[in-house]
Amino acid sequence: MKVMVFGGTGLLGTDIIETCRAEHEMIGLGSRDCDITNFEAVNEYIMIHRPDVVINCAAITDVDKCEENPDFAFRINAIGAKNIACACRDFSSKMIHISTDYVFDGKKEESYVESDAVNPINNYGRSKAMGEDFVKTSGAKFMIIRTAWVFGNRRRHFVDYVAESIIKGEDIIAVKDMVSSPTYTVDLAETIKALIPINTFGMFHAANKGYCSRVQMVEEIMKIMRKTTRVQVLNQSQWKRPALRPAFSALKNYHLQLMDIDNMAGWRDALKRYVRSKYQK
Ligand SMILES: NC(=O)c1ccc[n+]([C@@H]2O[C@H](COP(=O)([O-])OP(=O)(O)OC[C@H]3O[C@@H](n4cnc5c(N)ncnc54)[C@H](OP(=O)(O)O)[C@@H]3O)[C@@H](O)[C@H]2O)c1
Repeated sequence: MKVMVFGGTGLLGTDIIETCRAEHEMIGLGSRDCDITNFEAVNEYIMIHRPDVVINCAAITDVDKCEENPDFAFRINAIGAKNIACACRDFSSKMIHISTDYVFDGKKEESYVESDAVNPINNYGRSKAMGEDFVKTSGAKFMIIRTAWVFGNRRRHFVDYVAESIIKGEDIIAVKDMVSSPTYTVDLAETIKALIPINTFGMFHAANKGYCSRVQMVEEIMKIMRKTTRVQVLNQSQWKRPALRPAFSALKNYHLQLMDIDNMAGWRDALKRYVRSKYQK
């Protein structure tokens, strides 16, 4: 199949292309190739290449930047998704759109399933929820895949901050009232690879199984690395950031489970594979 990946230069997009390139013809695009806020540009790419499947990993993922600059967030995370969905509808490409656990408010006490109501508490979440609505109502054949707390090789993220601080013996700041499902790009890319040829549609949660707080995640990385450093444990109220994060946004892969295609590993296993491959060669 011919598969086009918007956001193909990002954390997840890079691993999707790597994972799928043996089986599919992959076309990866970064913001310099095609700005998804420009409908004509998106339409032209899809019209020329006529991909069977379009995966949208393009987004502004900096939650604080989204809070401070909502127009920027909505333009990329909502209008960008709409532009891709419109072109997919017009050229009969299946759209796989990536979304987030941050569409939820964090007040539930067990893992969120696909049928739970969204109620975002920050501009990143609001812009992603609007993007989901555009994709759902576009008339395109779609899958929306919500994931959470992504880590992988392409760029620096929380796991790298923790591992690098442990190696240097520097203090780590970890927030205890932030709980979700850490997810390895390699595992998520495998799930997306399995979904590409399946003739299905709808909302899917896809995260590594289980959940933890940022503090528990730090403890687990220390265990894997067999080394410790000092941890400053904070509440969100002490960790001054422009955007509030949901206190609990773990995801359950319920739709994948009902279809008997949930192959996501547990978060501890995924974290161990990543940390060992990057920091313990
Ligand atoms: N990271 C997480 O923890 C996390 C958690 C839950 C859900 N998600 C979702 O997962 C998806 C992938 O996230 P990620 O962490 O892989 O993203 P990322 O590493 O921040 O990469 C973002 C990608 O979007 C592209 N992009 C940004 N603005 C664009 C524009 N105007 N036009 C075209 N492309 C543009 C970037 O291209 P350039 O680099 O070329 O500029 C880059 O390829 C997103 O939908 C995100 O909301 C992420």
